[in-house]
Amino acid sequence: MRFNKRKTIILSGRDVRDIVQHYGIHEVMDTLITRMSVAFETFDPESTIIPARSGFSYTSPEAGLVEWMPLHGKGGKVMIKVVGYHPNNPDKYNLPTILSTLSAYDTATGHLLGLMDGVLLTALRTGAASAIASVLLADPDSKVLGLIGCGAQSVTQLHALSRRFAFETVLIYDVDKDATSSFKDRCSALELDLEIIPSAIAEMVNSVDILCTATSVDVGKGPLFSDLDTKPSLHINAVGADFPGKVELPLKLLEDSFVCPDFREQAVMEGECQQLAPAKIGPGLAEVVQHRAAYTPIQKQLSVFDSTGWALEDQVVMELFLAYARGLGLGQEVEIEFMPEDAKNPYHFIDVLSAVSDKGI
Ligand SMILES: NC(=O)c1ccc[n+]([C@@H]2O[C@H](COP(=O)([O-])OP(=O)(O)OC[C@H]3O[C@@H](n4cnc5c(N)ncnc54)[C@H](O)[C@@H]3O)[C@@H](O)[C@H]2O)c1
Repeated sequence: MRFNKRKTIILSGRDVRDIVQHYGIHEVMDTLITRMSVAFETFDPESTIIPARSGFSYTSPEAGLVEWMPLHGKGGKVMIKVVGYHPNNPDKYNLPTILSTLSAYDTATGHLLGLMDGVLLTALRTGAASAIASVLLADPDSKVLGLIGCGAQSVTQLHALSRRFAFETVLIYDVDKDATSSFKDRCSALELDLEIIPSAIAEMVNSVDILCTATSVDVGKGPLFSDLDTKPSLHINAVGADFPGKVELPLKLLEDSFVCPDFREQAVMEGECQQLAPAKIGPGLAEVVQHRAAYTPIQKQLSVFDSTGWALEDQVVMELFLAYARGLGLGQEVEIEFMPEDAKNPYHFIDVLSAVSDKGI
């Protein structure tokens, strides 16, 4: 699939689904983790510009927000992910809490090159980033995973992490009993040979090797638990805090941990890092990937991956799915933008002479 100067490639949710069905969820997740590791490894802030995201939040007609996450590869494309967070969606509208689209623009002309689903892609790339952080910062022999929040994101958290760790047990907790009881069924596509056991938070935090928090806890209602004993080498992937005032982890635990944000500039505004003094915030994930040997000792200590979502991750997953679509001949080319035949005449399509004769002038 080549980008066309006039047309826009559309990859719909159905195309994305067909791609995943064709290649299989494990192949897609494994490839994504590999590609994302390379992107972190080679990330250079001089050549890839990623500002912190911006957006609108509101309480009416529903509590939620719409945000935009831009990226500019200098000399290349601009990519923007637009993401909506509406935690009432599942109960009220039978829609995912996170709805999203990804778009790419040609920097020679500004032309919209591509527009694609970002719902499944966001869930996949967030899981993949947590897997990368966990491989670098968690005990490699981790056997017990904990999940607080059993919504859509927790499924791909489990998927991605299970591709890199031989878990035997997964302890789960959600304030919504239906989310807890349906979780195992929702994970059946992962074909995992492990026990999934509902648990109290305290019991979970005390005993797991890796913990993922992916909740829609309200602003001002966190943290999800107060100070609890943990294994000395516990690694946490905290992905739910992604809004000012929204946090999942207690301050003391953060202060005792090596805290690695995906994107520091954003994490200090929206992530767990909001709670921390600057000196307590560790290096970003790209730095840890690029100097992984220096951070191996952290695997024996408390660590937190503070994920607010980074546009680099969106670029990686977008490029991967465009490549898949190209291979399968999927996607539709549409002329969305108005392209006048005369670049300097927006009314070129109005036939002046026939309009004059029609009116008998
Ligand atoms: N960091 C990232 O890049 C990234 C990407 C995707 C989603 N997220 C965030 O992850 C969170 C989860 O997303 P999702 O798509 O799974 O949403 P979801 O609505 O499908 O699931 C959220 C779950 O959290 C549960 N929950 C709410 N408060 C809780 C609490 N105090 N304790 C335990 N469970 C609680 C809800 O009952 C629900 O089942 C959201 O905040 C979302 O914004 C972050």
